[in-house]
Amino acid sequence: MRISRRNVLLFTGLAALLPPSGTGADAAQMQKKPLQRIAFGSCAGQDQPQPIWEPIVGNKPDLFLFVGDNIYGDTEDMQVMRDKYARLGAQPGYKKLTATCPVLATWDDHDYGVNDGGAEYPKRRESQQVFLDFFGEPKNSPRRSREGVYDARVYGPPGKQVQIILLDTRYHRGPLKRREPENRALGPYVPNPDPAVTVLGDAQWRWLEAQLRVPAEVRIIASSIQVVPEDHGWEKWMNFPHERERLFNLIRGTKAAGVLFISGDRHLAELSMMDGGVGYPLYDLTSSALNRSAQRWRPYETNRHRVGTMNWGDNFGLISIDWERQDPQISLQIRDVDGDITLQRKIYLSTLQPGVIR
Ligand SMILES: [Fe+2]
Repeated sequence: MRISRRNVLLFTGLAALLPPSGTGADAAQMQKKPLQRIAFGSCAGQDQPQPIWEPIVGNKPDLFLFVGDNIYGDTEDMQVMRDKYARLGAQPGYKKLTATCPVLATWDDHDYGVNDGGAEYPKRRESQQVFLDFFGEPKNSPRRSREGVYDARVYGPPGKQVQIILLDTRYHRGPLKRREPENRALGPYVPNPDPAVTVLGDAQWRWLEAQLRVPAEVRIIASSIQVVPEDHGWEKWMNFPHERERLFNLIRGTKAAGVLFISGDRHLAELSMMDGGVGYPLYDLTSSALNRSAQRWRPYETNRHRVGTMNWGDNFGLISIDWERQDPQISLQIRDVDGDITLQRKIYLSTLQPGVIR
């Protein structure tokens, strides 16, 4: 068969419709039923108790997204990495989750293998396979042969489709630029102006463009690092301003509607919102940490795009979609270890369409 651009897109779309690889899922059923409740979280220390799974399971999510620092691996020894994943797998609450709900995952620095790490990490190939083993990716999955753990799935019937896009912000990421002199209070990094430095790498950028052209009403893009906040000096897309601009340009250029970013990594929860030039507001719902948050008051850091924050205490994110309304309503929530809502914003799907901001 001649490989035309149309065929490539067709295959990409079909691949996205394959059943999820998470455990405990009735995959065929998931395709028929629209996703209504998507929980997510990040930053889970495998050696400490993880009581947060109780309220997560209690909320009966259709899907759980692990958005990075799923374990604190921090090693180049893959046996040590495997052992640490095994400790997550042995957490009673996590076992309960995987028995009742499919899990999709991407990684951040610590489960990738090194704090604030990027393409220079020498065990990235091996670490990818250990990650995919733990999350039950089939041996013949195309995700095994990509460079990076990025992936995408579409759930639900036509007209009520939710696309989950999992980015890999580690495997190809170029060097961070350090603040000189160091100032711990402001964070260690400043934007790297070098346009040659990448976050996603060429292959993942091409893949992402194809994904954004796959039909879906809601697109949840999981990025381990924050996309929208730009004022703090820790890890974030804005450390590579040209790459963040490229991301926004891609959303605008593909006319992809319904994009919502979710992120982790920061050991705080917040909702940020901005006009990124895509024609509708871009939200970034950050949930961190599942069990490694500050347990006492943590001073606010500046975030010009902040809608609200939960600046201390363990938390998870919950996105609920009410498809029964004429204009589907999306509730973006952060919840605490008691399962209580600590932060909420309700939006309508009609407000996530190009042309809303002119
Ligand atoms: Fe991280």
